[in-house]
Amino acid sequence: MAELDEPLRDLRGRIDRASRVCVLSGAGMSAESGIATFRDALTGLWSRFDPAQLASVEGFRADPPLVWDWYAERREGVRTAQPNAGHLALGEFARRRPGVLTVVTQNVDDLHQRAGNRDAIRLHGDILRDQWLDGCGRGRTCEVGQAAPGRPPRCAECGNLVRPSVVWFGEMLPAGAMDAAERAARTSEVMLVVGTSGAVWPAAGLAAKARRSGAFVAIVNPHASEIDAEAHVLLQGTAAQLLPRLF
Ligand code: OAD
Repeated sequence: MAELDEPLRDLRGRIDRASRVCVLSGAGMSAESGIATFRDALTGLWSRFDPAQLASVEGFRADPPLVWDWYAERREGVRTAQPNAGHLALGEFARRRPGVLTVVTQNVDDLHQRAGNRDAIRLHGDILRDQWLDGCGRGRTCEVGQAAPGRPPRCAECGNLVRPSVVWFGEMLPAGAMDAAERAARTSEVMLVVGTSGAVWPAAGLAAKARRSGAFVAIVNPHASEIDAEAHVLLQGTAAQLLPRLF
C-alpha cells in the first residue's frame, strides 16, 4: 500500500483542515461487516437474485411471501452484523469533531448509526422498519405494529399489507432526504465516496454536485466505479482498511 501513502496523507490533511466533510457510502461500506453488496460480480445480490422480483412494488404484489421472506433473511443478517473499522472511524471522527461530518448513505442497514453517526442521512430507507404497502382503504392512519401476524402481516380490517421500509426501483426517495444530502454535498469542502458502484441515481449524482460546488472529491473503492471521473483522487482499497487511516 506504499503507493497510496502520499494521496492518503494529502486527503487526511484536507479532512483535518475542513470545516464541512461529506461521506457518501454504498454497499461496499458494509461488505467487511458481512453484508453482501449488490453488483459485485460473484457475491453481489443482483448477480444471484432478480431485482425486478425482489426490489419493486410489482414484484412484491406478485408474490408477497417470497419477497417478505427474502427481506426477513436480510434483516437477520443486518441485526447480527457489527460495524467494521470503517464505520467506527467515521463515528469516532464525529465524536471528536462534532458538526463537521455528514454521512449520507445508500445503505439500508443501521451500521453507521450504531457506530455513532446517528444523524446519517438514509437515501434508500431502513430495512429494519416496516410500512404499509398502500394508503389505508378506509382512510385511517393505522399503526403498522397493529397488523395481524402473517407473511407479510396484514391489516386485520382492510387487508393492507406490510412491506419493508426500503426504497424500491421506480420509487421516490424519502421526503427531505435527497434535499438534505444535496445540501451536505454542496456545502462540503471534502466529499468522500466510499463503496458505491455509482450506478443508482440520484445518489450517484452527489459527487458531481459537490465537485461543481468546489469540494475536493475522493473515492475509496477496491474497484473502478461509474463515477470515477468525478474524483480528484481514487484511493484503491477497502473501507475498513482506508477510513481508519483518513479519519
Ligand atoms: P453496489 O453493489 O452497486 O456497489 C458496491 C461497490 O462497493 C462496488 O463498487 C464495489 O467495488 C465496492 N466494494 C466492495 N467491497 C468493498 C469494500 N470492502 N470497501 C469499499 N468498497 C467496496 O452497491 P451500491 O452502489 O450501494 O438500492 O448500490 C446502490 C443501490 O443499488 C443500493 O442502495 C441498492 C441497490 O439496488 C436500494 O436498496 C434501494
